[in-house]
Amino acid sequence: MPVVHPSPSGSPLSDLIGSSVVTLDDVSTGQILELLHQAQYIDAHRSTVAHICDGRVLATLFYEPSTRTRLSFETAMLRLGGQVIGFAGAQLSSVSKGESISDTLKTVSNYVDVVAIRHPKEGAALVASRAATVPVINAGDGGHMHPTQTLADLATLESRFGRITDLTIGLCGDLTFGRTVHSLIETLCRFGHVRFVLISPPELRTPRYVLDRIDANPTCSYTEVDDLTAAIGDLDVLYMTRVQKERFFNEDDYLRLRDTYILDEDKLRLSKPHMAVMHPLPRVNEIAAEVDRDPRAAYFEQVKNGMLMRMALESAVVGDALPGYEPLEAK
Ligand code: CP
Repeated sequence: MPVVHPSPSGSPLSDLIGSSVVTLDDVSTGQILELLHQAQYIDAHRSTVAHICDGRVLATLFYEPSTRTRLSFETAMLRLGGQVIGFAGAQLSSVSKGESISDTLKTVSNYVDVVAIRHPKEGAALVASRAATVPVINAGDGGHMHPTQTLADLATLESRFGRITDLTIGLCGDLTFGRTVHSLIETLCRFGHVRFVLISPPELRTPRYVLDRIDANPTCSYTEVDDLTAAIGDLDVLYMTRVQKERFFNEDDYLRLRDTYILDEDKLRLSKPHMAVMHPLPRVNEIAAEVDRDPRAAYFEQVKNGMLMRMALESAVVGDALPGYEPLEAK
């Protein structure tokens, strides 16, 4: 029996069919809100969506280590009824013989309906999307962007606060190389009404191109500070990040900076009762395990939301509608 894939005509997501997502600038603010809404629907209707991607195949091309992103992209497609191929470590693929990203994508496009790619080099996902003939989703390119982590983060803000704006958000740690921070700031600035507190040592400040995005929206603002203890009491959200060892040029600098910020119960006592502690994970030392017991800890909710948002995005770019789903606009 042929597989029928009704497409989401009339939905703001219909423009995403066949599109690559290299940064969230490739997705309109209306589409982001729709994806957030779809993820909630998917969570509540798991069996209804369990076969919408029957016959689809996802490729995960991971040139860099991952636990959450690769496994959640794959679980998302499996939970929608599709199948998965790919590699986790390019050394066992023809990349180890010198094959280019473009040739790899031109090849894999013949096999699959959608590709998720992670690569250590900034811009690799853009190169991949230009070579591919199927949608390519950036699963993290170097220290640049991580758009699907941002979707998970927005879903977590929405579930914790019922909104993604009118918040004071502290981002703490490696703001230079932390691609999750760059994606999140840029995307929140498109919605506006966010006050950022950028907490880092001077060596790990936020790149200028990201600060420019805050400056471009008069409803957003930022302060750069280096003292987490002094800042924590003002925050609605504390988004901790790992110091990105793999992006440092100098091991001594990494060793000197890696434990600059450690969130523990003592520091948490200084925060608002409903502050959300977020972290894209993996963590190293920057959040003590004792914080996991605190209701403010939201990082494992981010993990679950990552899978749901990837289910919404994968079904959107391949064009498979969610049965019974009513778009936000129609409400
Ligand atoms: N958040 C995140 O990107 O985790 P992984 O590196 O495990 O995929």
